[in-house]
Amino acid sequence: MQETRPVGGLDAKALRTDFPIFRREVHGRRLVYLDNAATSQRPQAVIDAVRQFYECSNANIHRAVHTLSHEATVAYEEAHKKVARFVGARSWREIIFVRNATEAMNLVAHAWGLWNLREGDEVVLTIMEHHSNIVPWHFLRKLRGIRLHFVDVDDSGQLRLDQYYDLLERPRVRLAAFTMASNVLGTVNPVQEMVRAARERGIVTLVDAAQGAPHLPIDVQTLGCDFLAASGHKMLGPTGSGFLYAREEILQTMEPFLYGGDMISKVTTEGAEWNELPWKYEAGTPHIAGGIGLGAAVDYLMHLGMDRVYEHERHLLAYALERLQSIPGIRLYGPEEGPRLGVVSFTFEKAHPHDVAHILDEHGVAVRSGHHCAQPLMKRLGMDNTVRASLYIYNDEADVDALVEALQKVVRIFKIR
Ligand SMILES: Cc1ncc(COP(=O)(O)O)c(C=O)c1O
Repeated sequence: MQETRPVGGLDAKALRTDFPIFRREVHGRRLVYLDNAATSQRPQAVIDAVRQFYECSNANIHRAVHTLSHEATVAYEEAHKKVARFVGARSWREIIFVRNATEAMNLVAHAWGLWNLREGDEVVLTIMEHHSNIVPWHFLRKLRGIRLHFVDVDDSGQLRLDQYYDLLERPRVRLAAFTMASNVLGTVNPVQEMVRAARERGIVTLVDAAQGAPHLPIDVQTLGCDFLAASGHKMLGPTGSGFLYAREEILQTMEPFLYGGDMISKVTTEGAEWNELPWKYEAGTPHIAGGIGLGAAVDYLMHLGMDRVYEHERHLLAYALERLQSIPGIRLYGPEEGPRLGVVSFTFEKAHPHDVAHILDEHGVAVRSGHHCAQPLMKRLGMDNTVRASLYIYNDEADVDALVEALQKVVRIFKIR
């Protein structure tokens, strides 16, 4: 058992005091939360920002001259500016608030794909995509007759870049859409290089940063992508918050996603003109409190520094892998080399992942079991379900030790050798 100490420059134990949920117990034990790839916990600062909005400034935005509406509008716009700074966008008008990464990618499929993809056009995806970056393209395959290609992974879970580059040579490829990091294996893809190669060939790029944005520094200028999608709730923000970054030029030329109030500048019985950015893509009353909470989450992360966040998780992952390897009968997935998020999927031959997760829960350890909304990847790697432990800023070696201790109980119960 290792003494708990700050790893990678973050003092996780001290950070946990910012998160009220860690005051509670689960089955009489300290909560060890290792389900961060599904959703993170929220610090008091985010909860306060949401509460403060409802208690002090609650009103609809953009629609009235009264004080509360003005305050709500300013706070909501300010949140866009914070997110713009977080990802290095040139302007906050390049940030569209949505409910989650799924909605962000559906926005691209509808507002860009529907209008720009024709029968026979091709889209390059990867086999490690979350369903939210597969199913919207199946929709266009059905509707428009586009063709989808999936870049494979090797047996260690690294993307087959040779295949990716070959596919980009195909003349009908219009879009390359890929994740920054696998939510099952933790593999971090060389997205900057992948974007560069696509853009050189005039191919539009969409980066799914649902797993990237909470854990890695992002600069969309350096990245050069056309679109980048992320979920607020995986990066300390409220549920129902997320964003799409898109280059202003592309947003100006695209059609809207949803139609109705707030996204127009003028409506007549003959037609409508669209509002300025980003409101053209935010129809109806948005999740104002959620957006403001996301702004507070970004403040919190920027204060920590995303380099330190990644460094912390890298150290903790190394510790976790080392300790988990000692568990009898465990099979660990994910690349042994190259950049990787703090995500560890594992299985036991003799114990179903749901049973393992259940036993861990009895020890206060929250992990996920299942297919993680990545069925094509699971099939490729020959598995149905895994247990997945995923780390974040408030996890430390004591959390990993608790996981290992609970897994030793699994080993005893299932008589694994
Ligand atoms: C890589 C990746 N992309 C997209 C999503 C979808 O996120 P959301 O459910 O917030 O839309 C997830 C969620 O787990 C994910 O891991």
